[in-house]
Amino acid sequence: MTKITQLLGIKYPIIGAPMFLVSGPQLVAAVSNAGGIGTFASMSYRTPDHVKAAIDETRKLTNKPFGMNIVLHKAHNPHLREHFQLAIDEKIPLIITSMGTPRSLIKDAHMHDIKVFCDVISLKQAEVVEKAGADGIIAVTQGAGGHAGNINPFSFIPYLKDTIKIPVIAAGAISRGSQMAAAFSLGAEAVYVGTRFIATPEANASNEYKQALINANPEDIIYSDKISGINANWIKESFDRWIKYDTEKTHDIKLKRWIDIWSAGQGVAQIHDIQPVNEIMMEMIGEYNKIKSRLP
Ligand SMILES: Cc1cc2nc3c(=O)[nH]c(=O)nc-3n(C[C@H](O)[C@H](O)[C@H](O)COP(=O)(O)O)c2cc1C
Repeated sequence: MTKITQLLGIKYPIIGAPMFLVSGPQLVAAVSNAGGIGTFASMSYRTPDHVKAAIDETRKLTNKPFGMNIVLHKAHNPHLREHFQLAIDEKIPLIITSMGTPRSLIKDAHMHDIKVFCDVISLKQAEVVEKAGADGIIAVTQGAGGHAGNINPFSFIPYLKDTIKIPVIAAGAISRGSQMAAAFSLGAEAVYVGTRFIATPEANASNEYKQALINANPEDIIYSDKISGINANWIKESFDRWIKYDTEKTHDIKLKRWIDIWSAGQGVAQIHDIQPVNEIMMEMIGEYNKIKSRLP
């Protein structure tokens, strides 16, 4: 049991990270049903009605808690207020914020018994969200999929722990139990798993994307702001495709970022197969327990 499992009433300290377009109802429900907590990004859906439909669909697949990610940057998420209201109306037990400072939102969420975790890539951001009343901090470290930080987890997690009092959740390249054990040794109270869950039957990603992830090595992960304007990690073959596309000005087909251009973290090193979520989680827990008992 950790502070995070207690806070959320879940069995295992594993959070299925929200992934734009990839984390649909099947993936979210599979993580929650396996004893962790699945989450989705509200931005994956065009209108608040579509978000509501996704919540309804997830509830048909699980009666366990799940969470919703809300991007706080107004330019990126014009429906921010409606998404937040939906989380309240639908009694979503966990909100995960990214790209912004959730000042008033946290107070409102707490009035409705909703927990709020905020993702951060620096100590300064962590201090701001702790002061705003966040229930947990997600340390997005170097090598994470999506918009990632640039500080090594061996440095970042203990660095946060020296100052921050609320629980820290480790994010970035956590694909198996050994990495989970390492994160807990550094002081994390839960792990946040994104990339590993893309190579699953439950993920809403094309077979080409899943296969590219299996084929990729950590050397093939490119950290760049050239695709979305913010530093993120991308699989090299699709990153190169975008750069070529972006330089040539005439196109027969239109490439879409995040659908045709694939994000993944350095955790690809440990991904060799498409496996069901439940199997991945049971292997993770098994390996974690074995490592824990083997430690000197
Ligand atoms: C394809 C993809 C899409 C993502 N979309 C989002 C998103 O919409 N909102 C968000 O807060 N984080 C997003 N992330 C970041 C994840 O929530 C998480 O921080 C990251 O996947 C953890 O690192 P890992 O992929 O190495 O496990 C995304 C990551 C990936 C790989």
